[in-house]
Amino acid sequence: DDESGGGEEYLFKIVIIGDSAVGKSNLLSRYARNEFNMHSKATIGVEFQTQVLEIDGKEVKAQIWDTAGQERFRAVTSAYYRGAVGALVVYDISRRSTFDSITRWLEELNTHSDTTVARMLVGNKCDLDNIRAVSIEEGTTLAEAEGLFFMETSALDSTNVKKAFEIVIREIY
Ligand code: GTP
Ligand code: MG
Repeated sequence: DDESGGGEEYLFKIVIIGDSAVGKSNLLSRYARNEFNMHSKATIGVEFQTQVLEIDGKEVKAQIWDTAGQERFRAVTSAYYRGAVGALVVYDISRRSTFDSITRWLEELNTHSDTTVARMLVGNKCDLDNIRAVSIEEGTTLAEAEGLFFMETSALDSTNVKKAFEIVIREIY
């Protein structure tokens, strides 16, 4: 296939959800651009990045959507989820309240998308192990109960970031 012709390719929409400041935008910037911002501002509305991967010799484009965790800055919910085939549901391992919110995020995801959406529970900021408020076991248990993949990540030091996105993308593929 020549590049201009497009040929056989796949485009997958993936959404990132979770409370404000859990690190959604930094997970995306670390994955797509290898960038991390210690002082990033809260997201307003929606942003997305397209990442191109090769899986089994096929070109796969992942269009990854990131929105605000804060209710007042969020985009229209149904539009955000429309067409999504994968989701990263993120909490911050150093803030208990963000883990308690996961049930609510899963409810919203289930309301607005198909049950076949590939879903990964992500415990971000695992570099903050010294002030951890949620154990790995709690994450694992919740993920098993809800039928999600599970991974702890750090957008700061890059731990498992690529892995988390690519497990979801491969599952879809
Ligand atoms: P909203 O856009 O408001 O929903 O927040 P968000 O989930 O996009 O969070 P964002 O990526 O803006 O990160 C919030 C803060 O956490 C920023 O100060 C980041 O630098 C910091 N942060 C993000 N990921 C990590 C991480 O893995 N480790 C540490 N230590 N800090 C992180
Ligand atoms: Mg953000």
